[in-house]
Amino acid sequence: MQEAVAIAELDRTGFLAAIDQFVVIYGAAMGAGADELPSRRAIMERHVGSPGFRALAVTAATSGRVVAFTYGFRGLPGQWWHDVVLAGLAAEYGLSAARNWLDNVLEVAEVHVHPHYQARGIGRQMVLTLTAGRPERTALLSTRDAPTPARRLYRSLGFADLLTDFLFPGGGPPYAVMGAALPLAGGHGGASSPEA
Ligand SMILES: CC(C)(COP(=O)(O)OP(=O)(O)OC[C@H]1O[C@@H](n2cnc3c(N)ncnc32)[C@H](O)[C@@H]1OP(=O)(O)O)[C@@H](O)C(=O)NCCC(=O)NCCS
Repeated sequence: MQEAVAIAELDRTGFLAAIDQFVVIYGAAMGAGADELPSRRAIMERHVGSPGFRALAVTAATSGRVVAFTYGFRGLPGQWWHDVVLAGLAAEYGLSAARNWLDNVLEVAEVHVHPHYQARGIGRQMVLTLTAGRPERTALLSTRDAPTPARRLYRSLGFADLLTDFLFPGGGPPYAVMGAALPLAGGHGGASSPEA
């Protein structure tokens, strides 16, 4: 029988109190080496201060241990990811179309489920809950440009590829930037575009 889990929203204080557990989940989910975790932790700490920050943690009902987490926030000019993606979208589609995706956007920053708890609906539920009732018009994210479970999940929630084979400054593998109009359709397929 599958162990029961519970999903809960965290405020900034609650997120920071559990940040070490989120870094562990990140490492396990992404297969990241211990040397990569301090910089990831620093990025998460910085993101907590972003406007519209919303975080969810999933815990195992019996042990109370964190098994998954996600967070997002309002994307704004001056944020590194926002500005890099704006430039990438503008180069591909023109500035007006790029702004249409990014001028009222929820950035979905992290979505991670511990490998022991994957493929039982937790990731889908977290993204649906994270995006539900948000004031933003669109949601954007980046993920490895590869046929991963993450890519399949986002597609099935209505995210479309906006950029593929995209290289962020500073190195790293090719990424896909994916976007959807909010609210998410929640079903399978059916990519959506933002209304102008
Ligand atoms: C991507 C991730 C968050 C999905 O969470 P999850 O709880 O495992 O996914 P769910 O059980 O909610 O499944 C949602 C969809 O993901 C896809 N998926 C999940 N597991 C999969 C697998 N093993 N193989 C292929 N697709 C898979 C499917 O499309 C699935 O929908 P379906 O069940 O209707 O086919 C999780 O697998 C994970 O943490 N992966 C490693 C870290 C990562 O890549 N994070 C995202 C970074 S952008």
